[in-house]
Amino acid sequence: MSDGGSGLVLRCDSVDDTKDLAAALAELARPSDLLVLVGDLGAGKTAFTQGFGRGLGIDEQITSPTFALVRSYTGRLDLYHLDVYRLEQVAEALDLGLSELLDDGSVTIIEWGDAIAPVLPHDYLEVHLRFPDDDEPATTPSDASMPDSRVPVDGSAEVVVVERRRVIELRPIGPRWSARVRALGVAVAPWALLTPRAEAGDADGEAGDADGADGAAETGRDEEGEVGSC
Ligand SMILES: Nc1ncnc2c1ncn2[C@@H]1O[C@H](COP(=O)(O)OP(=O)(O)OP(=O)(O)O)[C@@H](O)[C@H]1O
Ligand SMILES: [Mg+2]
Repeated sequence: MSDGGSGLVLRCDSVDDTKDLAAALAELARPSDLLVLVGDLGAGKTAFTQGFGRGLGIDEQITSPTFALVRSYTGRLDLYHLDVYRLEQVAEALDLGLSELLDDGSVTIIEWGDAIAPVLPHDYLEVHLRFPDDDEPATTPSDASMPDSRVPVDGSAEVVVVERRRVIELRPIGPRWSARVRALGVAVAPWALLTPRAEAGDADGEAGDADGADGAAETGRDEEGEVGSC
């Protein structure tokens, strides 16, 4: 859905790490922001949303909206959480009056949002979540001691591989998030995998720094996490 250009490439070592990253991003959120989450089943889209919600000051437990299509939550900024995985949900999303959701001052997060890209405003933060490729650099010694976990899901006999590490790529699409790319780079620097912090800051060129890097979230991540910022 994006032009394929590279964004900020990040690494999260655990589900809590993914949630912490998302919470740090939420510090930069503004009314009517849109985030489009892209990634395979189990990639961590809902986990990301839970962390983002925490960063918005939402106390309520955020659960997958798979069968509800959209759930809303109240926080510092309110949040709409949509999942358009199933075909009929795409149709429902179109009936939902998406533009009204986007215009009411809440933040909107859409899982599988690439499925409805043609009807979205060209102005959102695209968040790609994926399992790491084998050929990506092992950036910290702790990788070796972090084997993939295999856990049964929903008590079924089927065993699903749930790797703990995820690669998350952020791509600002359109002006809203592009204008914040410097602050984005600072906020997510502790998770940087391939994009050096300085480069991230330069990437916005003349876009300006209206949000100010000083507003970056305190993530509290320890020094080990910085090893990956190569
Ligand atoms: N680094 C990680 N980031 C996110 N989730 C992780 C990570 N490591 C393990 N997990 C686990 O992977 C699973 C991710 O599930 P989640 O429901 O968030 O995925 P999803 O992308 O929303 O899936 P779906 O496409 O079915 O909606 C959870 O069980 C979570 O605990
Ligand atoms: Mg989900």
